[in-house]
Amino acid sequence: MTFRPVPGQATSAPALRPSPVLPSSPGLPHEPWEVADSRSSSGLTAGFRIGGVELPNSLVLAPMAGVADGPFRALCARLGAGLTVSELANARALTLGSAPTVALTRFLGQPRPFAVQIFGADPDTMARAAAAVEASGVCDLIDINMGCPVAKVVKTGAGAAMMKNPRLAGQVIDAVRKAVTLPVTVKFRLGWSSGQITVRDFTRMALDHGVAAVAVHARTKEAGYSGRAQWDLLEGLGAECGNVPFIANGDLATPEDLMAVRQISGCRGFMVGRAAIGRPWVFAELLGRSLPDEGVTRFRIFRWHLREVLMEHGSKGVALFRVHLFAYLRNHPGASQLRRRMCHERNPAAVQDAGREFFLGGEPRPALA
Ligand SMILES: Cc1cc2nc3c(=O)[nH]c(=O)nc-3n(C[C@H](O)[C@H](O)[C@H](O)COP(=O)(O)O)c2cc1C
Repeated sequence: MTFRPVPGQATSAPALRPSPVLPSSPGLPHEPWEVADSRSSSGLTAGFRIGGVELPNSLVLAPMAGVADGPFRALCARLGAGLTVSELANARALTLGSAPTVALTRFLGQPRPFAVQIFGADPDTMARAAAAVEASGVCDLIDINMGCPVAKVVKTGAGAAMMKNPRLAGQVIDAVRKAVTLPVTVKFRLGWSSGQITVRDFTRMALDHGVAAVAVHARTKEAGYSGRAQWDLLEGLGAECGNVPFIANGDLATPEDLMAVRQISGCRGFMVGRAAIGRPWVFAELLGRSLPDEGVTRFRIFRWHLREVLMEHGSKGVALFRVHLFAYLRNHPGASQLRRRMCHERNPAAVQDAGREFFLGGEPRPALA
């Protein structure tokens, strides 16, 4: 299928939005482990544009509720992710100005480009939420969640339930597009179940309604997060999307994975989720910029992450960091014992020491800048 222009959508290349290239965003101190320049112009990792927004490379940090908060997004961007996406934010709560929901969309050290993801099943509420997000100036893209399998979301008709109601999904996209000037993207799954693989029709619907990019998690709603992602069911979708970037997602962790999924799907971008938890340097590796002096560097990254979480979340920080702590230390020889010990730990110094012991072993504490 060739790219079909949509009424009201520019067909020529839109003006470039200035997109600060990391890590030279003003106000961000440089860390010795950062990827100095995450731009890539060739091969698998070449950057591309979503609407007028320029991505320095093709690697996207997946939205992950409870994981990809501001500090983690900043960390992954510093390590090479070309785009980061917020945790899903409830559109209705955004329209009501709910502080915890609004906070999901904002982070003082947020690198750009950045997409805020919203969910909801009512076109008018989604439009008002998107307009409020745009007005706050916090992001470059609005992403609509049409893939969340969580019961609390699905029972409201939002998330993956949208895949059962493509007409409403189209109305939601139209309403959001009409309410904002930012490019609008959408993320969904292969379909509801193995007997209802609707990814092709749903992609066509999204294109017909003028989305600026399509991201697909190669599992069904029914599969949740289990089993291997079915990349084969993404076959040819990149070409079907024409000029609209298609972003593949699901079980991507190595350059070989990227190569395979591009070969099958023709995707422009790669969205990486769980492979980055406890291994945020996966983005540097995928960009071919391996980190020097692994143990010390990884400890520095771990420590920077912990500090940012503590600064962002205050007294709740240690508890919120736990998911990352266990992932960083998953190859610890005494991992299960360590988990038990750290489960109720409240002291940030003890958390830092656990990381120090794991990454630096029994070595004397090196002088870390
Ligand atoms: C803890 C967790 C939270 C997630 N939260 C979201 C979310 O808020 N929005 C969304 O679109 N997908 C969410 N996802 C799905 C991921 O974005 C991604 O599609 C999925 O994990 C598959 O990619 P992966 O195999 O690289 O992890 C979440 C996944 C995990 C593991």
